[in-house]
Amino acid sequence: MKVTVVGAGAVGASCAEYIAIKNFASEVVLLDIKEGYAEGKAMDLMQCASLNGFDTKITGVTNDYSKTANSDICVITSGIPRKPGMTREELIGINAGIVKSVSTSLLEHSPNMVLIVVSNPMDTMTYLAHKSLDMPKNRIIGMGGALDSARFKYRLAEAMEAPISDIDGMVIGGHSDKGMVPLTSHATRNSIRVSEFLSEERLEQVAADTKVGGATLTGLLGTSAWYAPGAAVSGLVQAIACDQKKMFPCSTYLEGEYGLNDICIGVPVILGRNGIESIVDIPLSDAEKAHMQASAEGVKKTNGLLDV
Ligand code: 2OP
Repeated sequence: MKVTVVGAGAVGASCAEYIAIKNFASEVVLLDIKEGYAEGKAMDLMQCASLNGFDTKITGVTNDYSKTANSDICVITSGIPRKPGMTREELIGINAGIVKSVSTSLLEHSPNMVLIVVSNPMDTMTYLAHKSLDMPKNRIIGMGGALDSARFKYRLAEAMEAPISDIDGMVIGGHSDKGMVPLTSHATRNSIRVSEFLSEERLEQVAADTKVGGATLTGLLGTSAWYAPGAAVSGLVQAIACDQKKMFPCSTYLEGEYGLNDICIGVPVILGRNGIESIVDIPLSDAEKAHMQASAEGVKKTNGLLDV
């Protein structure tokens, strides 16, 4: 199982690290445009192998896509991250060109890849990949919902003073401060609805804190987060590599599901060896439907800025 991660910045490197630590892939290629940078990160990570007990071989390359050839899964993390006060949407000008050229080069060398897009604005970058690459829609996946759901579970556990392993919950919709749709009414603690433990007001606060999860970290760190994004990507990569058929909310191209068309946005999907094995079309409440519709309008507005 060969995985390529493009972008050896903080998100790409933590993604490579988590994949290696989970020890399911034989090879991870880390590629960056900055001379020697991916090579350095790969060497540092490989020096963790005996300490952390993994056999995955991590190699770093400077912009040499021939070294990524025949990857089973490719991840794009490249592009500029947000600075405090910026929205993900403001990154589109620079990141669209990067995502288009990186994804085209990846496909040239790995025609059977499953592609995971992480670069922001993620739903629009996933849509761009769909429009610019000749690939089946199930093999292009946007990572956002898995991360947003992890942040939702963190906030729920905090509010309930419960261990996170007790909590289940999902965030669908666009990966943006306004577009996320935390499915509060479906979230549970050991199968009991969280509304049994938290007031409506507290749940609204949890949802609001979840939606600005990335922005909160950007404010604290001065750049966007990397541990949870890296861990979320590694979860998707593992589900595909090991054909786990696990359910995650991911950005995928919709053709009528959730009443939406010609858009990539976060919905629950089953991930396996073919990428998206199926889209899970669950019934939403009227409020969730309205929220999802508004989220889709926001994503479509950003898509309108693309030259596709
Ligand atoms: C985040 O929310 C990087 O978009 C990513 O942290």
